Amino acid sequence: MKGNHIAEYRYVDPDTKNPVLLYSDEVHEIYWLGIPEHTAFRSNIYLIKSGDEALIVDPGHQAYFERTRNRVEQIMDPARVSGLIICHQDPDVAASITQWLQLNPGMQIITSPRTNVLLPYYGASNYRWHNVVDDSSFIFESGRRINFIEAPFLHFAGAFTSFDESSGFLLSGDIWAAIQLEWRLIVDDFEQHASVLDLFHLDYMGSNIACRGYVDKLQDYTIDAILPQHGSIIDSANVENALHYLESLVCGTDIIYPHLTNGVPDESESRIMELKQQVKLLKETSQQSDLVRKRYQDSLATLKQKDLELKQKKRMIEKDLEMLKKMQQELVEKEKMAALGTLVAGVAHEVNTPIGVAITSISSCGEALKSVKKRYEEEELSETDMEMFLETAADSMRLTRSSLEQAAKLISSFKKISVDQNIDDMREIDVNEYLLDIIRTFYNQLKKTKIEVDLECPQGLIVRTYPGSLAQILNNLLSNVISHAYEADENGTVMIKLHKEDGFLYMVFTDQGRGMDGTFKESIFQPFTTTARSRGGSGLGLNIVYNLVTQRFGGEISVESEPGKGSCFYLKLAVEEQGV
Ligand SMILES: [Fe+2]
Ligand SMILES: [Fe+2]
Repeated sequence: MKGNHIAEYRYVDPDTKNPVLLYSDEVHEIYWLGIPEHTAFRSNIYLIKSGDEALIVDPGHQAYFERTRNRVEQIMDPARVSGLIICHQDPDVAASITQWLQLNPGMQIITSPRTNVLLPYYGASNYRWHNVVDDSSFIFESGRRINFIEAPFLHFAGAFTSFDESSGFLLSGDIWAAIQLEWRLIVDDFEQHASVLDLFHLDYMGSNIACRGYVDKLQDYTIDAILPQHGSIIDSANVENALHYLESLVCGTDIIYPHLTNGVPDESESRIMELKQQVKLLKETSQQSDLVRKRYQDSLATLKQKDLELKQKKRMIEKDLEMLKKMQQELVEKEKMAALGTLVAGVAHEVNTPIGVAITSISSCGEALKSVKKRYEEEELSETDMEMFLETAADSMRLTRSSLEQAAKLISSFKKISVDQNIDDMREIDVNEYLLDIIRTFYNQLKKTKIEVDLECPQGLIVRTYPGSLAQILNNLLSNVISHAYEADENGTVMIKLHKEDGFLYMVFTDQGRGMDGTFKESIFQPFTTTARSRGGSGLGLNIVYNLVTQRFGGEISVESEPGKGSCFYLKLAVEEQGV
């Protein structure tokens, strides 16, 4: 779309990454290059491009150079910028002149004689100067023209403004410059805007005469927008308001020397007092704005500090958590070792009995053999003696054999379970036999109590699963019952029922012991929940069970319990079908 685009940018971000196109036609474009600082003193920089040529209007401070060059780069080669318009010599307008001349020494500096004599103090010399007093217009090769309108004492003696004929834009330098904390690209409400114009104009502009003289010169121009060097752009809707504002402005020497002012129309002493009051108020407002900014910066600093503190705390908590996890892992390992220790003691005791029986039996057989041998050598061995010996020997052999078989069986279940607990690969097991083996390792402990364990499991139920983890689950549940469910010499039963359905092994583990109250029941799967810490309980047993059921078996576990009525654990464990 061609023409004036200003209305499209009412709410543009001041820190725009791209140049903002304010006007365009076939050959001619005007860009706003954004604001390089975010104080109330924001400086606008503009680019007028016509055909292959371009002028930067008020290029700004040295610190703005890099940023401005990057913005120009998005439009054209910055080294091909043909000139700088410098409306007066202030550093926020002109200080980057040396950097631009370094980039293109052939570029023209378009300014007034009074500014031109001061620019060499920035280090600029030997440049091509376009004197706006001698030659009050610049004509691009495209034929488009910019007219320069002198604006003495607004605020510098040699100040001037630039009028772009193609767009009707007046690039007004410090005239209509506003000091704004709250900023938007286009002026919305001129009446409100007048107060931020006052902040600058009352102090900086020379006098009402200077203002009226300048407005008078503008009568010949049809202005479509006013683009100042600071603050918001004034679009066509408010150009009349802006002209009227300047025309009737009482400022500078009018305020400083009110008794000498005769150029101000109809100003009585009281009006001047009122204006003085207004200036005072505005200064206070400005100070307040500074205060608000200071407070904002302070609270930002506090927030940053808080954020930093929170981050540090978070790091500390993470560290603690890591340590806790490590400790928990160590405790789990200890618990495993303790379970293994109990298992070893149990098995050793169990194995001891059949081996003892075997030794006794083989010894008595040996005695009988010795006696038979003696009788034979003395030729006193009767047929009856021989028959009796054979019977004794056969009995001894049978007893020895069955005892050793029992011992062997115990050792093999111990081996299976202990290996499973350490290396837990998946393998096929006969659930009934496997669980019986595990229960068998508890006989030693159970013998010291009056607790009976009943297993109800379908015969020949073969599944592919993690046997070590299954053993650990049952170990922990059984240890738990033995230690906590019953009083020392109380009769008790533990019922373990299993069945398989839809790829899950369901286990119901019931006791009729003392049960648990609601609060305790809620927390039993949490780590370190125990009633037996004084007796060395770690409170990890059921937590391990919970983790194994939910993580290793992808299953579920729940418990029902009431004080005095025992507890019932429901386990659901995912297993694979036989042969899968
Ligand atoms: Fe200035
Ligand atoms: Fe300025």
